[in-house]
Amino acid sequence: MQTLTITRPDDWHLHLRDAAMLAFVTGFSARQFGRALVMPNLSPPITTVEQALDYRHRILAALPPNCEFNPYLSLYLTENTPPQEIESAAQSPFILGFKLYPAGATTHSEAGVHSLKTIYPLLEYMESHDLVLQVHGEVTDGNIDIFDREKVFIERELHPIHERFPNLRMVLEHITTSEGVDFVHRSPANIAGTITPQHLLYNRNALLAGGIRPHYYCLPVLKRETHRQALIQAATSGNPKFFLGTDSAPHTRKSKESACGCAGCFSSPLAIELYAEVFEQANALDKLENFSSRHGADFYRLPYNSGTVTLEPAAWTVPDCYIGPDGIEIVPLRSGETIRWRLRNGYISSSSSFSKSSNSSSRGGSPS
Ligand code: NCD
Ligand code: ZN
Repeated sequence: MQTLTITRPDDWHLHLRDAAMLAFVTGFSARQFGRALVMPNLSPPITTVEQALDYRHRILAALPPNCEFNPYLSLYLTENTPPQEIESAAQSPFILGFKLYPAGATTHSEAGVHSLKTIYPLLEYMESHDLVLQVHGEVTDGNIDIFDREKVFIERELHPIHERFPNLRMVLEHITTSEGVDFVHRSPANIAGTITPQHLLYNRNALLAGGIRPHYYCLPVLKRETHRQALIQAATSGNPKFFLGTDSAPHTRKSKESACGCAGCFSSPLAIELYAEVFEQANALDKLENFSSRHGADFYRLPYNSGTVTLEPAAWTVPDCYIGPDGIEIVPLRSGETIRWRLRNGYISSSSSFSKSSNSSSRGGSPS
């Protein structure tokens, strides 16, 4: 079986957190991706251009040496975002848009939007400034079944927004349903969607069958198999409206393995390898490069990365856990199981020289 060399990919939906966690996780993304759109759901959230540029410096400072990785930011949209902030964001080359979190929808979304109508004037302003709205597309209405929250959001919120602001550029982030695929598919070119590896590889059985598996819990939650099939079809179709966004969202083992565990899957140490598996299984490896390295760049009107990455079919076992400083332990997606593709000569952070703490846990760096 042959190796696969593609233009260095980008991750258009990534959580890097801050402080020790930021320092620990950034290298995993930088070893494979050229750029990322980093999410602003810190605590407190990144709501201003000034905060975003400070955060960007902290991300750059967390990068391993000699590594080229360009972080872009999305600002956290609130009901109180001043219009001047939209103007400043439009002028900053490092800010690609605003993230809409319905209040209560997901991790650190408390400062998000309670009623979308209240932000219509801001959306109009964003539309006229050609800024992208990155959407967490789930309703938070407690009467709506959690598995239907994306579908209902599209009906209740997204259609009206799109009708009212037809030129507003939007990315429906981490789509998980056939309804999400259809919405993006049928919309004009100013609407796109990102797709995560977990929603392409797993259905809700992975989360709930044979025991509750908290490391497969993310939001939007994994759906039934028919939806996964629709996502695979969209990702591997070659349609430029769908592109890579891992939504890699590190949480400590303790906060996931809890009576009330946090939502988020940590996939950045093996993300491009997971996507390669999906595309190979769909007989569409030739479509991987456009999905991971071109469609997102085109949507965000950025040039393609100049370097390449090479994947080889060499199975390895995903560590049970990545152990960082300050007692950080993160269980990755697919922990303890094998993965077929391996990134060759991926950037290896200096922390990889740490010895392994047990047979199957790793102290960072790339698989070897
Ligand atoms: C994300 C996080 O942990 O920040 N969690 C998740 O389940 N995806 C937030 C988000 O993108 O919803
Ligand atoms: Zn996310």
